[in-house]
Amino acid sequence: MRPHVVAQVAVSLDGRTAGFDADLARYYAMATLWQEDVTLAGADTILAQESAVRGAREGERRAEGPLLAVVDSRARVREWDALRALGYWSDVLALYADQTPARPADATTRELVTGYEQVDLEEVLVRLGEGGARVVRVESGGALIAVLLELGLVDELALLVHPVIVGSGAPWCGTTGVRLEHAGTEVFAGGVVWSRYCVS
Ligand SMILES: NC(=O)c1ccc[n+]([C@@H]2O[C@H](COP(=O)([O-])OP(=O)(O)OC[C@H]3O[C@@H](n4cnc5c(N)ncnc54)[C@H](OP(=O)(O)O)[C@@H]3O)[C@@H](O)[C@H]2O)c1
Repeated sequence: MRPHVVAQVAVSLDGRTAGFDADLARYYAMATLWQEDVTLAGADTILAQESAVRGAREGERRAEGPLLAVVDSRARVREWDALRALGYWSDVLALYADQTPARPADATTRELVTGYEQVDLEEVLVRLGEGGARVVRVESGGALIAVLLELGLVDELALLVHPVIVGSGAPWCGTTGVRLEHAGTEVFAGGVVWSRYCVS
């Protein structure tokens, strides 16, 4: 059985996920509610943090933390050891496809290969479920969430809406036909609104 999949995204009033100062403390505080077994991240989300990750003080991997699995069919992510040493995740898992470029001979990162040119997200979720994962939380600026929504693989969606208008860029999701049932809303200081939806 595939795990319960939740996706949370911080957005501006005009639906952008970048170009404004998101309330990261609130974002991560809300994210802990799900107690995920696996954080499923888009490669671009990881790459956007890579220089900060590289410069972070090295810690211990957190044995009881979730697994970080990164969708990376083009093998663009390099800082696997630094991600593992951040002290939040228990381990890291590279999600590759058959056509993913060859990895360095001394690469030690665990990997899961599915799909031909791109990672087969449905198979990934099934395999994670077989490995014991019950909850998967998606971390993405929208691109990975949109693909998962298109495939009908998201069970719950949470938006942390910030009272700002960015005015440029593309909205985070162009997926149509998704049926959402409102599950709750909270309003926080500064007018940040957290809304949670079940995807049916
Ligand atoms: N506001 C927020 O809540 C928030 C959260 C996270 C990140 N961000 C920001 O958002 C930006 C990055 O997010 P993003 O939305 O651009 O990218 P992303 O979701 O992090 O990465 C896109 C992912 O989608 C995968 N993908 C695309 N099409 C696919 C398909 N058909 N099948 C399988 N996988 C597919 C790509 O895989 P391949 O690499 O294998 O092609 C890649 O891993 C950064 O600027 C970051 O700072 C904002």
